[in-house]
Amino acid sequence: MKHLNVERIRLDFPILSQAVNGKPVVFLDSAASSQKPIHVLEAMERFYRSTYANVHRGVYTFSERGTELYDQARAKIAHFIGAPRPETIVFTRNATEALNLVAYSYARTFLQAGDEIVITELEHHANFVPWLTLAKERGLTLKFIPLTAEGTLDLSKLDEVISPKTRLVSFAQVSNVLGTITNPQPIVARARAVGAKVVVDGSQAVPHMPVNVQEMDCDFYAFSGHKMLGPTGIGVLYGKYELLDAMPPFLTGGDMIAGVTFEGATWNEVPLKFEAGTPAFVEAIGLGAAVDYLSALGMEAVRAHEREITAYALERMSEVAGARIFGPTDPAVRGGVLTFALNGIHPHDLATLLDREGIAIRAGHHCAQPLHIRLGINATARASFYVYTEPREIDALIERIYKARKVLRK
Ligand SMILES: Cc1ncc(COP(=O)(O)O)c(C=O)c1O
Repeated sequence: MKHLNVERIRLDFPILSQAVNGKPVVFLDSAASSQKPIHVLEAMERFYRSTYANVHRGVYTFSERGTELYDQARAKIAHFIGAPRPETIVFTRNATEALNLVAYSYARTFLQAGDEIVITELEHHANFVPWLTLAKERGLTLKFIPLTAEGTLDLSKLDEVISPKTRLVSFAQVSNVLGTITNPQPIVARARAVGAKVVVDGSQAVPHMPVNVQEMDCDFYAFSGHKMLGPTGIGVLYGKYELLDAMPPFLTGGDMIAGVTFEGATWNEVPLKFEAGTPAFVEAIGLGAAVDYLSALGMEAVRAHEREITAYALERMSEVAGARIFGPTDPAVRGGVLTFALNGIHPHDLATLLDREGIAIRAGHHCAQPLHIRLGINATARASFYVYTEPREIDALIERIYKARKVLRK
């Protein structure tokens, strides 16, 4: 069954009709950053051409219109992830900044020496290093939910790892390396049982599947615009209103204040309290257009398409002798990434050879070095998929892997 009209969708992404090194481009690195449809490019260009002026600052038409569009973008994003109200959406530069905001503002204020933070063994550095740094600085203990041999979280260890001393639990809903989709419910339930706050890194989830932060009942949820058809420079932190309200500002300066005297300052309301300086409002409007585009496709259909493509990729890659595939083999619990290693070919050599054929994949540790330590390998190759990925691109990847092997006589 066809979930998305991929042929039609590809027409919205002019970059995909180009040639690279004389070959039609096969872009298999959307987990790092996705391509952008013309709708997003045009929404941003239209704004720059017709309405551009700084938001929140002017009483003239351009500024008022800009502020209105910025607010509309916030409301669209709130609706897209099931947030109760637009004020619970804080715009950041990216998911990394959103997670740092929680670490700096919430955790530095409310956690004390001896408290425990729990993350998992599969985290991206963005959801690892802020907690590691904070733990060292404040005498907190950092604990890890371990992985099973298949690359899913070992939830049988939850009661052991999340203890009455745990104040905060943070985990990726979808792994950018293993593709593992984690059901947040048991983790949220255990965190609630010990009174810990829950942070979810949704960087690889929001672009690819329906997400509802209220149903999930997390306290914070972070993601980036550039992985979900939106521009760079814009990310999102969702937070429960009462928590955001109780937290001190992260960055200070213009826009985030209610008033300033020579003696002191008072803070603006949530979410503006967390948006110091001129915000990336054109990028927010671009992200709003991306959300419109994804909503028109339907997130159920996006997920169904990726599940099918991933199943096909898993099947084709398992035919390759000497290929080691990482992560769950069941596409039902796996997002659209295929991380693998080939006997005798370094992932960087493979990526370079594939580039000659117009194929873009990722090689390295994918900003998840501790996970690679756990997997016992320094580097892996990763192909990742999105709404514009076609089965023929998987075929091209597999065919060129065979060719690369011949070149390298492996
Ligand atoms: C799971 C996960 N978390 C966080 C990030 C960080 O995103 P950004 O670099 O946009 O802040 C990424 C990006 O690769 C990711 O895949």
